[in-house]
Amino acid sequence: MNILLFGAPGAGKGTQSALLVERLKMHHISTGDLFRRAIKGQTELGMLAKSYMDKGQLVPDSVTIDMVREELKRIGDKDFILDGFPRNVAQAEALDVLLKEVNRDIGKALFLHVPMSDLVERLSGRRLCRACGAVYHVTAKPPTGGKCDNCGSADIYQRDDDKPEAITTRLQVYENSTAPLKEYYSNKKKLVELDGRGKEEGVFDRVKAALS
Ligand code: AP5
Repeated sequence: MNILLFGAPGAGKGTQSALLVERLKMHHISTGDLFRRAIKGQTELGMLAKSYMDKGQLVPDSVTIDMVREELKRIGDKDFILDGFPRNVAQAEALDVLLKEVNRDIGKALFLHVPMSDLVERLSGRRLCRACGAVYHVTAKPPTGGKCDNCGSADIYQRDDDKPEAITTRLQVYENSTAPLKEYYSNKKKLVELDGRGKEEGVFDRVKAALS
């Protein structure tokens, strides 16, 4: 089954996607990761995306939709998780069209609910491995000895948009643009709301149960 994983910044979408990839061998399509890859490669798309991402704003819909179209074509018939797309109703409507183009469907739209107060703590404490992308947290999940537990790299960094000003904007953008997607997918009878609090493994048990 193909799924959407959505929720506020810091709700744990990337963390749960990594578990789904590792244990259920699903394909992960994260628009945030695709933009970060383009930034690293210093492409034109990357430069454009960076100018929005650093401020916590959404990258324009047209660019984002074209990028997802290419990715959906590229992955063939693998089961996929869409993480971070769609992010507003216009993108959700565009996704419906894209899915028809590639003859695919979304089985469920999983919404991870985490209270606002926890989100700020999660985002400001998040750290990542630059080499492999593994996600850490300074107190909840620190890398052992400052090195990535996954690949051993010592290049652990903080995302530019995990600084206080950008976090505030991202949470506002989420409330205004992304939260209305709950109604969109509820109307399509695809919405499953999950509690995103508690330990990662506990959340993963709820994600897995929602897929069965
Ligand atoms: P994107 O990369 O998608 O960021 P986001 O949606 O803001 O989500 P995050 O990656 O911040 O959080 P997450 O839910 O994945 O949480 P994580 O698992 O890392 O997008 C970045 C930017 O790209 C956007 O602002 C926008 O500019 C642009 N963009 C992307 N998609 C776009 C689109 N469709 N349209 C337009 N623009 C787009 O966890 C966070 C922290 O919490 C970590 O430290 C983790 O260790 C910790 N944690 C996770 N689970 C738990 C748990 N159960 N308990 C305690 N801590 C936990």
